[in-house]
Amino acid sequence: MMNRIIAIANQKGGVGKTTTTISLGVGLAKSGKKVCLIDLDPQGNTTQGLGYDPDSIDITITTIMDRMIHKEPINSDFGVLHNREGVDLIPSNIDLSEMEMRLISIYIGREKILGRYLEMMKLRYDYILIDCKPSLDIITINALVAADSVLIPVQAQYYSARGLEQLLNTITRVVVDGYNPKLKVDGILFTLANDRTCNFRQVSQIIRDAYGQNIHIYENHIPRSVKAEEAPISGISIYEYDRTGAVAEAYDRFTDEFLQEEKKYGKE
Ligand SMILES: Nc1ncnc2c1ncn2[C@@H]1O[C@H](COP(=O)(O)OP(=O)(O)O)[C@@H](O)[C@H]1O
Ligand SMILES: [Mg+2]
Repeated sequence: MMNRIIAIANQKGGVGKTTTTISLGVGLAKSGKKVCLIDLDPQGNTTQGLGYDPDSIDITITTIMDRMIHKEPINSDFGVLHNREGVDLIPSNIDLSEMEMRLISIYIGREKILGRYLEMMKLRYDYILIDCKPSLDIITINALVAADSVLIPVQAQYYSARGLEQLLNTITRVVVDGYNPKLKVDGILFTLANDRTCNFRQVSQIIRDAYGQNIHIYENHIPRSVKAEEAPISGISIYEYDRTGAVAEAYDRFTDEFLQEEKKYGKE
């Protein structure tokens, strides 16, 4: 068992966090890994994207975090959905939007609520992937404190670099302030790329020049496709929706690259 927790984060919305969480998760499961996805966004897009109706689910990540706050015991099966594409899921829905206020009112340990839960859960999985919400609030901090590393999907656009700076500063704070001294950045994954435009090449080069020294940038990038845009509506991953399409193939190659990187750093 790998027992690795990875936060998939970027405070910008619409950059492919959810799509990457589902696709990498299903990709790793296809490679024989035991995978659990944590939907940590009140929008519940990962939950929806795997075919569930967020509003009709009783036990969500909010229920679980509430129990952790009140120090009530939790069984490791509690609330876990077993998806037919081979991944487990802790779902989310709009209830999570009230969690931020609840966490703020906690005097000590508000950053560690999710981490305390995942400490137990990680023993059961090779990979736990946390799909973060598009903000750098205490809920996302909880993910950064709980995680071993962060994977950053970036849409190669002119304004991406500035947002990246803010995210990296937050990660640094989590490390140097002692909340999670071992937190690492796995790397940057370029998503939603229009391969043929010079814009993608220019912007990815700008980001490479600015950050490539310190941060790994994955060789594979994810192209844009209409099929990938449609897949979530059907509640299935791109692997099922458009098996032989460019995006499924890109995530397949990225999953291999991701696993290779894991080996390189002696994690496997
Ligand atoms: N490779 C892709 N090609 C086309 N559309 C995509 C692709 N990846 C994601 N999308 C679409 O873009 C939108 C944002 O993606 P999403 O993964 O939900 O981003 P985030 O979780 O960062 O907000 C969604 O509608 C999604 O279906
Ligand atoms: Mg999302």
